[in-house]
Amino acid sequence: MELLKLNLTEFRKIAKFVYERTGIDLPESKVTLLSNRLRKRLRELKLDSFDAYYALLCDTARCEEELPHFLSAVTTNETYFFRNESLWKFFRSEWIPEIVERKKASKMIRIWSAASSSGEEAYTTVMCLREDLPNFSTWNIRVIASDISQRVLDRAKLGEFNDYSVSKMPEALRKKWFVTTGDKHVLKGELRKLVSFRFHNLRDPFPDANFDLVFLRNVLMYFDTPMKLKVLETVTRALVPGGKLIVGDVNPLRNTPELNAALELDYCGSNVYEKPGLKTAAVGGAVKG
Ligand SMILES: C[S@@+](CC[C@H](N)C(=O)[O-])C[C@H]1O[C@@H](n2cnc3c(N)ncnc32)[C@H](O)[C@@H]1O
Repeated sequence: MELLKLNLTEFRKIAKFVYERTGIDLPESKVTLLSNRLRKRLRELKLDSFDAYYALLCDTARCEEELPHFLSAVTTNETYFFRNESLWKFFRSEWIPEIVERKKASKMIRIWSAASSSGEEAYTTVMCLREDLPNFSTWNIRVIASDISQRVLDRAKLGEFNDYSVSKMPEALRKKWFVTTGDKHVLKGELRKLVSFRFHNLRDPFPDANFDLVFLRNVLMYFDTPMKLKVLETVTRALVPGGKLIVGDVNPLRNTPELNAALELDYCGSNVYEKPGLKTAAVGGAVKG
């Protein structure tokens, strides 16, 4: 039997819906990818055409229930522990010592892993902090991880990972922080409890603020320029003066004049940006925690 594939008209309607809901910009070259991802959902719902599925999405009474499945189906959730080794070297050898010095009075650190997928980035963060912060138990650590896919958030909360997720991390840390049975690696509760996961669509404002660090890696590339601008405004607002933004291995900001012109952050190298104003804020007493 021939597999159902979106025709161009169906693709355009659904891609427009994806864009309106998520900001994800799907070029026509993604027609096979989108067909493959939605076909499974059609089967589960016993629908026989993409048009029937589109009608369901447009039906306000039924859409709410379908939306979480739809968002999970259309997003790419690739991630793993210690993704981009050089970033984690920077994090451990430069960011942590700097924040220890800066926060030695309040001993409070706040980090947001935006578009966290199944939690590997946020959990790598707390693992490094647990390893490197002197007198760890005296620190107040808050790590929030958010994503638009409820499916990956549910997986993240479980703290169970497959071989692929842990394949690029230091072996000693894998042995220390996971309980492994066959190909299942369960992260120890001591680290799991340091991260809280929540649904958040980067199209929307983020209710929390005063982060010392925001990770925004491997997600901007799915967005067009207006959406990138919106997201950058959101994360910039969420940072404290002196707070850092870390973008992904492919840095989509450096060579886009429109984004560079709008960016209210200073480039520090290696895909790291800093929100200016630390000195002014410190003098004015505005930096707390
Ligand atoms: C490739 S993963 C990146 C995960 C992790 N940051 C990393 O670099 O390993 C991209 C994630 O962005 C999420 N995402 C896509 N559009 C989003 C949006 N509008 N709001 C929030 N998350 C979104 C996807 O669900 C997916 O989990």
